[in-house]
Amino acid sequence: AEVIIVPGEEDGGRLVADAVVDLVRARPDAVLGLATGSTPLAVYRHLAARVRDEALDVSQVRGFALDEYVGLPAGHPESYRKVIEREVIEPVGLDPERIAVPAGGLDGVETAGERYEAAIREAGGIDLQILGIGRTGHIGFNEPGSSLASATRVKTLTEQTRADNARFFDSPDDVPMHCITQGIGTILRARHLVLLAFGAAKADAVAAAVEGPVSTSAPGSAVQLHPHVTVVVDEAAAGALT
Ligand code: F6R
Repeated sequence: AEVIIVPGEEDGGRLVADAVVDLVRARPDAVLGLATGSTPLAVYRHLAARVRDEALDVSQVRGFALDEYVGLPAGHPESYRKVIEREVIEPVGLDPERIAVPAGGLDGVETAGERYEAAIREAGGIDLQILGIGRTGHIGFNEPGSSLASATRVKTLTEQTRADNARFFDSPDDVPMHCITQGIGTILRARHLVLLAFGAAKADAVAAAVEGPVSTSAPGSAVQLHPHVTVVVDEAAAGALT
């Protein structure tokens, strides 16, 4: 992987937004893979600013979210459908019809993964997949133990991840137990992976992903199997790299 150390989140966000803009200029119907969580927010902010300032046409851009909680009431503000609407679709001006999020409703959740895989295939695959990484080492919500060949499916969140995401909910108990996530195999089929991480809390996960043995115990290490990976980190998140 190419590792780029940036002074901070804003610089990282600008850099990755530049890559997205270049892609969309070359391919107006580019397919983006969209992470949620805190890490990519600067990317989406910079992307929104550039689209506005340069009157970039994003009307044909397509996108697939990485994951979704299972069992939140429809329209819950912390469902990733809503988060993607609020943080990406609205500010960037994307067409909501062209942006898919795995279906986390209990009805039909057993087949939602297969349907998502089919939709990604029909779109011709993901051109650029934006990834964060969890303290457990997860990419998407593929917690340790996830098969490196996995497809989109329902998973159980670890207690660590539920605790880390409790900040988005009124009470830690409100964080769902389950999620539906693109698999590691799904992620590896994207043509370019961009993994972002900021802050010392991510240093061990970043080191395991970039330099550790490729192992299901460190799901992020799967990126080493991919021929085109860009890792964008600040000094703190790069702190455990040798
Ligand atoms: C989000 C996702 C997760 C997050 C990870 C880091 O769609 O799939 O892998 O990227 O949990 O979360 P933050 O960025 O909030 O630290």
